[in-house]
Amino acid sequence: MAGNITLTIIKPDAVAAGHTGKIIDHIIQAGYQVLAMKLMHQSPETAGKFYEVHKERPFYGDLVKFMSSGPCVPMVLKKDNAVEDFRKLIGATNPANAEDGTIRKLYAQSIEANAVHGSDSDENAHREAHFYFSDLEIL
Ligand code: CMP
Repeated sequence: MAGNITLTIIKPDAVAAGHTGKIIDHIIQAGYQVLAMKLMHQSPETAGKFYEVHKERPFYGDLVKFMSSGPCVPMVLKKDNAVEDFRKLIGATNPANAEDGTIRKLYAQSIEANAVHGSDSDENAHREAHFYFSDLEIL
């Protein structure tokens, strides 16, 4: 059965552009309940650890630099079929390929500065939620 938790991060590009409130509203209008949320300016060490799975990829260094360049907003979200539905809501990783009406189509600038992160599996959703919210009892 599909899980009901996903982890998103409103990324530094979207926070800096003033899109945080609109993106949170978009998520809530889509039926998600916010279980946890914080504004944080993470260190390169923290961003690097979060994206460790991409360590060997050519874009890893730039991604870590970008994700630690300014404040971001990690959030734990709850809804039936959370992971899959959220990935539809945000659209393709590259906003050039994202469908109309998706969060990335509306707010992302590039494949790196792509406005939001979304967990790609139930297992990763739990791992990522614990990464930013280790004391969240519901998880
Ligand atoms: P996200 O969903 O947060 O997961 C990994 C991130 O790596 C992705 O969003 C993009 O921001 C970034 N990314 C993935 N592919 C590329 C790429 N080819 N070039 C630059 N950044 C990328």
